[in-house]
Amino acid sequence: MTPPSIASRLLPWYQQSGRHDLPWRQSRDPYLLYLAEIMLQQTRVETVKPYFRRFLARFPSWQALADASLDEVLALWSGLGYYARARNAHAAARMVVDRFQGEFPTDLVQALELPGVGRSTAAAVLASAYGQRQAILDANARRVLFRYHGLTGSMRSPQNERLLWQLAEQETPAMAHDYNQAIQDLGALLCLSRKARCDECPLLGPCAGPCEPTQIPQPEKPVR
Ligand code: ADE
Repeated sequence: MTPPSIASRLLPWYQQSGRHDLPWRQSRDPYLLYLAEIMLQQTRVETVKPYFRRFLARFPSWQALADASLDEVLALWSGLGYYARARNAHAAARMVVDRFQGEFPTDLVQALELPGVGRSTAAAVLASAYGQRQAILDANARRVLFRYHGLTGSMRSPQNERLLWQLAEQETPAMAHDYNQAIQDLGALLCLSRKARCDECPLLGPCAGPCEPTQIPQPEKPVR
C-alpha cells in the first residue's frame, strides 16, 4: 500500500518548527538563492552563514560577481573549502550575464548548463525563485525519502538513485518551495543520519524506516 503523502504532515510541522530565520529563507532573489545553494552543497549551514553574508555584501549581483577578478572571489571564499565551487560561481555569473541576459534561467535544462549546477541545485533555485514545482534531492531529502519509503540497499546505487528521484518528484507538491525547505529541515533537525529523533517526527507512523539506531540505514559519502 502506498503511504500518505509526506507534504500533508511535513508542511504544518515546517510552519511551526522550520528554520525560517536562515539568511536565504525569505528571499526570492535567484542570485542570492543560487549562491546559498552553491555554498550549502558541501558545507554546513552554520559555517556558510558568515561567508554568505560577506560574499553577498561584496558581490551583490550577477554583474558584480562577473566583473570581479577570480583572485578576489577565491579570497572571499577562502576557508569555505571546495574551491571549484568558487571558480564555477565566477564562471556561472559570467555565463548568466553573457548568455542569459543577466537572469538565472527559468528552464531546468538551461540552468543545468551553468558550471557547478546539478539537478538538485537547479531545482532548488527554480522552485524558490520562480515558484516552480521542482523536486530536490540533496543529502537531507535523500535520507528522509529513503527511510520513509523503506528502501533498502545502498542510498547511492543507480537503481535507488532513479527510484529516489521518482519519489522526490511524486512527493513534491505545488508549494515546492516550502516543501523543499521543510524536507531539508526535517533531515537536518530530526531525521539525522546517526541518531534520528523519530519520537518528535511528524512522519512517525507512515514512515517505513526502522527507529532503532543500529538499524537505521546510514548514508554513504557522496560520489563526486
Ligand atoms: N542545504 C541545501 N539547501 C539548503 C537550504 N535552502 N536550507 C537549508 N539547508 C540547505
